Amino acid sequence: MPKELQIPDRETKLLLDELEKTLDLPGDVVEFGCYEGDTSILLAGVLRDRPDKWLYLYDSFEGLPAKTAEDNSADGWRFKSGELKASPDTVRHKFKKYALPDPVIVKGWFNELGNSDLPSEISFALLDGDFYESIKASFKLVASRMTSGGIIVVHDYRNAELPGAGLAVNEFLEENENDFDFHIAASMAVLVKR
Ligand SMILES: C[S@@+](CC[C@H](N)C(=O)[O-])C[C@H]1O[C@@H](n2cnc3c(N)ncnc32)[C@H](O)[C@@H]1O
Repeated sequence: MPKELQIPDRETKLLLDELEKTLDLPGDVVEFGCYEGDTSILLAGVLRDRPDKWLYLYDSFEGLPAKTAEDNSADGWRFKSGELKASPDTVRHKFKKYALPDPVIVKGWFNELGNSDLPSEISFALLDGDFYESIKASFKLVASRMTSGGIIVVHDYRNAELPGAGLAVNEFLEENENDFDFHIAASMAVLVKR
């Protein structure tokens, strides 16, 4: 496995623990914001013995979109429009290198995706789009598809450089307080569908 992951090791373990909890639920696994697929291959490794579950990976593959006011932070100078540009082929090659089953890779901006781009049921979702509008758009796509007991993990919930991610989670929880339980794992938000 690659040494340099986008998600630090301790978080990776916590993330994969959450995925393990959902393995016996109906539904597929999605990652919104896969970049070069480093975390995707870890998710795929857990799913290796579960050929009934598909892994869907979404990304613009154009890098980050523009920030909105919600993302502004004195600490956030690193994240600019067009940064983190990757290619679907890089992701595909990584899966081949580790002999993992091919994922479904969907190139597009999250707010332009439609029903046909998503599985009908989702047991586990990783939202890692960094910005307020990106996380909001991801919630909009996954929320109604989550199976009971299914888990949504949002990366960067507690990251001062990316305040929009936390704001999008808090707003979603306010609007859906009867449908999801919530806890924090390292810097990630974990939402469990009731
Ligand atoms: C931090 S990276 C993801 C890292 C990856 N999950 C990992 O751990 O290796 C964020 C990714 O989200 C994508 N992204 C952010 N907002 C997006 C949007 N609104 N639509 C499509 N892709 C988006 C960017 O292109 C970028 O590749």
